[in-house]
Amino acid sequence: MSDDIKEKLEEQHRAIDEAVRQTEVILASGIENSFRDLKLQVSALHKLVSINFNHEESIGKLEEVLEEFPRLTNLFDRFNKEHGELINELERLQNTAAELSSFTGSRIQSLREDFDTFKVKLESHESREFEAIQEAYTTDISQAD
Ligand SMILES: [Fe+2]
Repeated sequence: MSDDIKEKLEEQHRAIDEAVRQTEVILASGIENSFRDLKLQVSALHKLVSINFNHEESIGKLEEVLEEFPRLTNLFDRFNKEHGELINELERLQNTAAELSSFTGSRIQSLREDFDTFKVKLESHESREFEAIQEAYTTDISQAD
């Protein structure tokens, strides 16, 4: 994998991890007014994830990669489908957060659970995808040697 692409992806993933962590801190805080921060934080996460997914999708469409590794076409199709699902889930979380007018009750509890589920899916997706991208570029380089 070219260092530029790798660095960019790692930088994006670090920013996403940090935004996920911040969201968890707010969700765990129980501070009454933090529902305002939560809205902003989930929106910030949505933006970071969207940028990262667009970037990954542009790598998945690279002709030189797909020509050389046709099997990756299916894999990247699946990753793109997962992007759509994850964005939908993030939008649902964003809508729920936007509707909050307090930080108590069953709504916040189900938001915590939904966010946990989202986090697990996102992490699983990202590690599988990152491996595939890395494999494509590593194989590319070693075959060229
Ligand atoms: Fe991805």
